[in-house]
Amino acid sequence: MDMKSRVLIVGGTGYVGKRIVKASIALGHPTYILFRPEVVSDIDKVQMLLSFKQLGAKLLEASLDDHQKLVDAVKQVDVVISAIGGGVVDHHILDQLKLVEAIKEAGNIKRFLPSEFGMDPDVMVHALHPGNSIFIDKRKVRRAIEARNIPYTYVSANMLAGFFAGGLGQLLDKAPMMPAQDKVLIYGDGNVKGIYLDEDDVGIYIVKSIDDPRTLNKTMFMRPPKNILSQNEVVEIWERLSGLKLKKIYMSEDQLLNMEGESYLEKMKRGHLYQIFIRGDLYNFEIGPNATEASELYPEVKYTTMDSYMKRYV
Ligand SMILES: NC(=O)c1ccc[n+]([C@@H]2O[C@H](COP(=O)([O-])OP(=O)(O)OC[C@H]3O[C@@H](n4cnc5c(N)ncnc54)[C@H](OP(=O)(O)O)[C@@H]3O)[C@@H](O)[C@H]2O)c1
Repeated sequence: MDMKSRVLIVGGTGYVGKRIVKASIALGHPTYILFRPEVVSDIDKVQMLLSFKQLGAKLLEASLDDHQKLVDAVKQVDVVISAIGGGVVDHHILDQLKLVEAIKEAGNIKRFLPSEFGMDPDVMVHALHPGNSIFIDKRKVRRAIEARNIPYTYVSANMLAGFFAGGLGQLLDKAPMMPAQDKVLIYGDGNVKGIYLDEDDVGIYIVKSIDDPRTLNKTMFMRPPKNILSQNEVVEIWERLSGLKLKKIYMSEDQLLNMEGESYLEKMKRGHLYQIFIRGDLYNFEIGPNATEASELYPEVKYTTMDSYMKRYV
C-alpha cells in the first residue's frame, strides 16, 4: 500500500495556507502545522488551529528564529509546504531562508514547496518596480533551495478568485472583494486573458503534487482551461448571474502607469495590474519542458469554474 507523505505546513493559518491544511487532511496525509508562539494571543487563529487539530492535524509550536526547534519539526515529516505571508508591501518571503537552512540540516525532506502560488517569478518579463520586489525575493528563495540541492516543486496558481474574480479586478484604492453593483474599471480593452483559481482547488492541486514524481524539481502551473478568461468575460459572468448591467470605465496602459502622487502600495498594485491585464503575463508564454500543468496532471479534480464560483456573490 502507498504510504502518504507526512506534511508540515508553515503559514497554515493564512489565506492560502488554511486551504493547503484542509487539502492535506482531506487527502489523507499525516498533517503537521507549524505555528508561531505569537499566534496564541489571536483568538481567531487559535480556534482555527484547534479546528484543524480536531480534524487530525498535529500542531507544532516553533518560531522561524529558533533554528533547533525548526530542525526538530522538519525531522518529523517528509514534505514541507510553506505558505508564509506574501502581503503586497510587508511580506515575509525571505524569512523562508531560515526554513531552507533547517531543511538542509535535517536532511530528510523529500520535497519542499516554498510560498509562491501566484505569478511565476522566473518567467515574467514585464514586472515593474516596486511591484517586482516580492518576485525578486521569491527568486532568492528558489536559488537558495537549488544551491542546497533540496528537492522542490514550485507552484504558480495565477489569480486567486477571491481577490481577482470576486472584486472583478478592482484592486486599486479600497480594493473591494465583492463584485461591483454599478460601475467597473476595465484595464486596457479588457480582452487580455488571465487565469482564475478557486482557493480550495489550489490547496488540492498543491497537495496532489507533493508525492508525484512528475512534479519533482519542476514548476507546476495551474491553467484549468475553463478558467482562462479575460476581465471582460469575468464581468460578463457577473452581469449574467446578477442581472445587473455595469457601466464600464476604461483605463489605458498610460493612465494605469502614470498616476501622480500615489502611495507605494498603489504603485505596487498598478504594476501587478499592468502585468496581468495589459501584458498578459499569466498566459503569454508556453509551459516549458521543466514544468507541468495541474489540470492535465490531475484530471480527476473537478475544478470550480468561475461561473460556479461567482454564484456565491449573488
Ligand atoms: N495568486 C494570488 O492571487 C495570491 C493571493 C494572495 C497570496 N498569494 C501568495 O500566497 C502566499 C501566501 O500568502 P497569504 O496571503 O496566504 O498569506 P497570509 O494570509 O498573510 O498568511 C500568512 C501566514 O504566514 C505566517 N507567517 C508570516 N510570517 C511568518 C513568520 N515570520 N514565521 C512563521 N510564519 C509566518 C502567518 O502566521 P501567523 O498566523 O503567525 O501570523 C500566516 O499563517 C504568498 O506567497 C503570496 O504571495 C497569491
